[in-house]
Amino acid sequence: MTITEQQTVAEVAAQSLGAVRTFEKHGIDYCCGGKRPLEEVCREKGLATGQLLAELASATSVAGEQDKDWQSASMRSLIGHIVQTHHAYLKRELPALTERFRKVVFAHGERDGAVLLPMEGIFADMREELEAHMYKEEFILFPMIGRYEAAAEAGAPLPMAPFGSIANPIRMMEREHDSAGGGLARIRELSGGFELPAHACGAYRALYQGLQELEADLHVHIHLENNILFPRVIRLEAGR
Ligand SMILES: [Fe+2]
Ligand SMILES: [Fe+2]
Repeated sequence: MTITEQQTVAEVAAQSLGAVRTFEKHGIDYCCGGKRPLEEVCREKGLATGQLLAELASATSVAGEQDKDWQSASMRSLIGHIVQTHHAYLKRELPALTERFRKVVFAHGERDGAVLLPMEGIFADMREELEAHMYKEEFILFPMIGRYEAAAEAGAPLPMAPFGSIANPIRMMEREHDSAGGGLARIRELSGGFELPAHACGAYRALYQGLQELEADLHVHIHLENNILFPRVIRLEAGR
């Protein structure tokens, strides 16, 4: 594939996991803030556009890249992947992180409360939002996308959605993604980039590792929805 500097980060990320890794390496937001052309992002980061394009070209041409082509797979299979991989991850890890926060705050709250307590509060709000968010996706939006796709495959008219255009619930999901992304960014900032204090114990370390892993997983998760799934169903609805 040919990548140009006029393409947005989100568009390039949507084509390949290799590109996603390159963006991660440079700290480039390919997720909620990904709708910006490569040249603009390079200017802001002080990166040479030519060099980034070359890196992207080699990262996306790696043979055997264990990357599934989610642009051509069915949207139903992409949804299955999102739910089984990323939603399952959150359902497992969010409660585990709550428990780790409890332990670390109990042990270190007196000394590090100024950092740990606001971080725990942001995390608790984020967990609640994400759990409600996944519920809406799994029980309302994703089944509707499945019905749209099945109708399109059968050459039948698209079913009537109770919420009008499918762009409406999608906008709501994207706003919630922004909110989760913002929460993670604040947690990263409060923790000084997950820099462990010298007195950190094993639970502290596990908490920071878990939060970093959550951030990485959520970025891929939101990327699959914002950059691939949602644009595909919007194109389908618009008949493009
Ligand atoms: Fe999701
Ligand atoms: Fe989502």
